[in-house]
Amino acid sequence: MSAKVISGKEVAARIKQELAREVGLLKTKYNVTPGLAVVLVGEDPASQVYVRNKEKGCDLVGIYSEKHVLPADVPQDKLMSLIEQLNNDAKIHGILVQLPLPEQIDSQAVLEAIRADKDVDGFHPYNVGKLMVGEARFVPCTPQGIMVLLKESGMDLKGKQAVIIGRSNIVGKPVALLLLQEHATVTICHSRTKPLSEQTLRADVLVAAIGRPRFVTADMVKPGAVVIDVGVNRLPDGKLCGDVDYDAVAEKAGAITPVPGGVGPMTIAMLLSNTVKSARLHNNIVE
Ligand code: GUN
Repeated sequence: MSAKVISGKEVAARIKQELAREVGLLKTKYNVTPGLAVVLVGEDPASQVYVRNKEKGCDLVGIYSEKHVLPADVPQDKLMSLIEQLNNDAKIHGILVQLPLPEQIDSQAVLEAIRADKDVDGFHPYNVGKLMVGEARFVPCTPQGIMVLLKESGMDLKGKQAVIIGRSNIVGKPVALLLLQEHATVTICHSRTKPLSEQTLRADVLVAAIGRPRFVTADMVKPGAVVIDVGVNRLPDGKLCGDVDYDAVAEKAGAITPVPGGVGPMTIAMLLSNTVKSARLHNNIVE
């Protein structure tokens, strides 16, 4: 069998087109321009690429964006005062602090300092809690993008076995909650799960978010499964590859997301969507 390729690039392009129309309407009808502030600490190359893509996405759909770059050795209080300033800036509806942060920074304190109603990443404990009780306001971008792609695959998740490899706060845990909301039976695995393939072979939906190149091999995948690859790994030759051994797994799976062009573009699209949503909420625009 050869898997259907779920193109996040195409789905994201469609979503961005819709957002551009919506932003146009917010501007002309309500004189509201959604605004996003992105904070980058240090010079991590992968983070720089993400941030650049976020800026490009904002430009494309008409969102105002500003980038704040701080040196890697910035003290905590400097970063906190920038966040305070952005919290109080009326033209900013979304604040995103690019993770990971350098070691001297207390990341959780930073995430908690962001106003929950500007937390377009959905990482503030208030938003995490709202997601947990099924009343999400801002859903983390990558998990939200994964759910859109699963819908795109055409699979009805009700009663299906969903297995996630990875238990991060950014992907593994929130996507588990979203899959549960769609009535899937959810298993979260991680690097210490033994034996891992016993779990993955049961999966109708397999989400790989472990951060190891080509970790998921064909012998770990149930025939016909929908495989979502969240990994973005840089190989020694400079090429990107996912957490899934794509060529071999694509022969066995029913549907699969590529890397690049799968989950990555969806993360950006969902961030833009959350920013527009925040601008609406801040201005009580319900239409
Ligand atoms: N680093 C990797 N993914 C993300 C994300 O979704 N948000 C932020 N802020 N940092 C990240």
